[in-house]
Amino acid sequence: MRLCCLPTPCHRLDHLSERLGIELWIKRDDLTGFAGGGNKGRKLEYIVAEALESGVDRLVTCGSRQSNFVRQLGAACAVHNLKCSAAVMVLPYDNAYGKPEGTALADGGNVILDDWFGVELREFPDGDWLDLYAHADAIADEYRARGERVQVVPVGGSSPMGAYAFAQAAVEVGEGWDAVVCPTSSGSTHAGLAWAYLQSRTRVVGVSCDPEEDLADDLKRLSDGIDVLSGVAKGMVKSDFEFRREWVGAGYNIPSDAGQAAIETLAKSEGILLDPVYSGKAFAGLLDMVGSGELKGRVLFWHTGGMPTLFAIGRPNR
Ligand SMILES: Cc1ncc(COP(=O)(O)O)c(C=O)c1O
Repeated sequence: MRLCCLPTPCHRLDHLSERLGIELWIKRDDLTGFAGGGNKGRKLEYIVAEALESGVDRLVTCGSRQSNFVRQLGAACAVHNLKCSAAVMVLPYDNAYGKPEGTALADGGNVILDDWFGVELREFPDGDWLDLYAHADAIADEYRARGERVQVVPVGGSSPMGAYAFAQAAVEVGEGWDAVVCPTSSGSTHAGLAWAYLQSRTRVVGVSCDPEEDLADDLKRLSDGIDVLSGVAKGMVKSDFEFRREWVGAGYNIPSDAGQAAIETLAKSEGILLDPVYSGKAFAGLLDMVGSGELKGRVLFWHTGGMPTLFAIGRPNR
C-alpha cells in the first residue's frame, strides 16, 4: 500500500559537515509526505495493508499522548475508512525505573492533528507501559463486544512488519556509510536498519529515547520476525545491536537540555527541524559521538520526523 512519497530525500549537510570535519548526510523521513511525515508512514504501508486484507473495522493502538505513531495510524485509517482508537498516557514509564521527574509533553501538537484525523483518544492516568497495553486490549474487547472486527497494533508500529519496512528502507540509501544513526524507542526502525546492514562496513547506532535496557530483547525479537518475513535467516543476536542510552535525559517524553541544544544546532545550521522526544535526543548523541571521535567518516543521520511535538505543551508531572 502506498502512503508515502518514496524514496525520501537523502542529502549532505554542508555546513555541519564542514564544522564537524566529517561527511554528514541526512535521510529525510520527516518528508514522507504523509500526515506530517515521520518514520511511521513506512511501517503503516505494510501494517494497514495487512489489516485491510484481514477485513477489520477498527485498529486500536496505544502510546504517549504526543505519540507520532497514533497521528500517522489515525491518518492511514481515515484514508482507508477504518476506525481508529488509541489508549494514551501523558507519561508512560517502566515501573522498574520509576516515574521520571520533569515536565512531560502533553497537549497541543499531535493531539490537535489526531483530532483532524478522527482518532478516538482515551487518556489514562500515568502508569507502567504494561498497564497501557492492557488498556488498549480492553478497548479492543469493548468494540468486539459491540460486533466490530478489531485488531490491536503494537506501540510505535513495532511489529515484525514494521521492522521489515525499515529493512526495505535501507535499500534507498545503499552501502558506503561508516555509520547510520537513528533514534530508537519501540525498536522497529533500528531493528530493520541493523538487520539490513548486518556484516557490512556500516555500523548502525540506535540512540535510545527510553531508559530501558531490555529494548535489546525487542530488537532481537523484531529481527527474528524479519528473518521469517524475508525468508533470509540472519539469526541476529542481542550483541549485534549497538544501542546507546546516554542521551535519554530525565526520561521518555521529557525534553533534555542536550536534545534541545541539538535541535537548535540543526535548525540554525541547516534549517531542518527535529523533535524534542526522539530525533533531537538522537542528534545530540550523534554530535557527542562525533566530538569524542567515536563517529568518523561518512555518517548518515536517519531523521524520523516528529516535528508536531515542537508545538506540544508541557504538563507539570504529578
Ligand atoms: C519521531 C520519532 N522518531 C523515532 C521514533 C522511534 O522509532 P521506533 O519506535 O521505530 O523505535 C519514533 C516513535 O517511537 C518517533 O515518533
